[in-house]
Amino acid sequence: MRELSLHILDIAQNAIKANAENLRIAIIEDTAEDKLIIKIKDDGIGMDSGTVAKVVDPFYTTRTTRNVGLGIPMFKTAAEQCDGYFKINSQPGVGTEIVAQFKHSHIDRVPLGDMAQTIITIINACDQMDLVYTHCVDGRGFRLNTKEIRKLLEGVPLNNIDVIAWLHDYIKEGLNDIYTAAKQEAI
Ligand SMILES: Nc1ncnc2c1ncn2[C@@H]1O[C@H](COP(=O)(O)OP(=O)(O)O)[C@@H](O)[C@H]1O
Ligand SMILES: [Mg+2]
Repeated sequence: MRELSLHILDIAQNAIKANAENLRIAIIEDTAEDKLIIKIKDDGIGMDSGTVAKVVDPFYTTRTTRNVGLGIPMFKTAAEQCDGYFKINSQPGVGTEIVAQFKHSHIDRVPLGDMAQTIITIINACDQMDLVYTHCVDGRGFRLNTKEIRKLLEGVPLNNIDVIAWLHDYIKEGLNDIYTAAKQEAI
């Protein structure tokens, strides 16, 4: 895929399908260590070890509308092609955690993409699910917790059009700040 955010969206959609109530997306960018790490954790139905072994296989899916599942194998391949690794920890009834690590400067590492738009899309796709998104660039962090935002909204739904527009700008500006601070420090 052309952007890592598309993989993140795909993994988040799996969590929604797995009836997750809580989703955590953590991105850690460390230029000194030359690493980009993506962790996505849900509390959905989970998978047993046999299923986990099968989902990394590009020809496996429980879907009936399309006979191959490609989301997970594609993400795994992307990480492994960039001197990284990919792992899934999952337990039935508990949830699933996926970790993908990339060499940050690897020539084949596609850009992260538009994370503000991606987070908004996930929130829009499932209003009931709560999301914690953390993004750290060289020690500077941004954090969004929909539980905290819900409290401030006093009953206005998260996917209200004005809320979505505000959230989008809030994330965009927050990420801009951490990238700018990291760049200034590097000079
Ligand atoms: N977070 C998850 N929780 C429970 N099951 C999952 C999760 N992610 C993936 N799966 C299972 O693995 C299968 C393969 O996922 P994926 O590779 O994304 O392909 P697809 O979503 O197209 O089926 C899914 O159909 C689902 O059964
Ligand atoms: Mg999928």
